[in-house]
Amino acid sequence: MSAMRLRSVRDVDPRGKRVLLRADLNVPLEKGRVADEGRIRAVLPTLRLLRERGARVAVLSHLGRPDGTVVEELRMGPVARRLGELLGAPVRALRDCIGDEVGQAVASLPPGEVVVLENVRFHPGEEENDPGFARALAQPFDLFVNDAFATAHRAHASTVGVAKFLPAYAGLLMEREVEVLSSVRDSPRRPYLILVGGKKAKDKLGVLTDLLPKVDGFLVGGGVAFTFLAAQGHAVGKSVLDQDLVPTLRDLLGKARELGKEIVLPEDVVVARELSPGAETRVVSAREIPAGWTGLDIGPRTRERFAEAVQRAGTVVWTGPMGAFEHAPFAAGTEAVARALVASPAFTVVGGGETGEAVERLGLAEKFGYVSTGGGATLEFLRGKAMPALEPLRA
Ligand code: 3PG
Repeated sequence: MSAMRLRSVRDVDPRGKRVLLRADLNVPLEKGRVADEGRIRAVLPTLRLLRERGARVAVLSHLGRPDGTVVEELRMGPVARRLGELLGAPVRALRDCIGDEVGQAVASLPPGEVVVLENVRFHPGEEENDPGFARALAQPFDLFVNDAFATAHRAHASTVGVAKFLPAYAGLLMEREVEVLSSVRDSPRRPYLILVGGKKAKDKLGVLTDLLPKVDGFLVGGGVAFTFLAAQGHAVGKSVLDQDLVPTLRDLLGKARELGKEIVLPEDVVVARELSPGAETRVVSAREIPAGWTGLDIGPRTRERFAEAVQRAGTVVWTGPMGAFEHAPFAAGTEAVARALVASPAFTVVGGGETGEAVERLGLAEKFGYVSTGGGATLEFLRGKAMPALEPLRA
């Protein structure tokens, strides 16, 4: 597969222009504050470049999944505040992402200054990729710069639709993600393993079917592992389970056997009756999770098994934590895996908001080969299918 060439923000003169910058600032918030700023930092190089070149910039992002309605806790205010602190410049948060207020604010913005628009997913037209909504987003601007790699697998109004109405360019983060991940996709050092966890089963598991022929194996932990265990006929107690995906996973397990690829599932799991910091925990066999108990982390035998596999690998891509790491009793699996990866001679890629947050908290982010901002997007990219939001940016 040939490397994709994108039209770059570096090749445009944005002086005095009104620029709509789509970023992925979908960051975790805790008590109204940004709990992990990795995705905000990742977009700073593009923002600095645009500011230095005298652009007037409005940053647009989604935050969470508000499903087309206004959700007060998902307003962009805290993100705008943190962005302003990191930029060392005042950054105002607007109350909407379309309409007169946006037009006026952007028109009166001095060159080099930045505003943050309101959560784009407050409008149903965003996820529907509604052309009228895309036109309204584009209307106050001269240029569109897309730096939201982590949302590049979504064909939404702010990632795809808006590019029909404005000249579109890739931001610096988008370029870097595409460059590094293209080399992993096209010429990984072998054995090439994907370590998958987290909770967004639907997003990840379908993609794994396409990835299977390209990799040497999958290591599966976190919430997604329980759907695999159920597909093998094991009882998973009250653990997260996506019943609709069970047939896909049965097929995947069958195909892996045919192709001689390894899918390593947990042997043991840490379970609790409830997800709380003081919960009573037990380590049980992953083949028999007792009724009424929830699997919340991989167990010690699984950690060792994953660590051994990672040690022998040439490339490991990791997306999705191994358990509910935000609570101490369920953090050991994610920590063990993170330490095994940084100790491995493999080229290591870590991807996704939550996984990025976990390695940041452990102070290990610098030790990975590459930290991608994408979770689902990274897997989609590696599977080699066209990414909807990259298409309008092709050179
Ligand atoms: C992510 O967190 O992976 C991206 O921000 C995309 O979010 P989504 O899965 O809600 O589209």
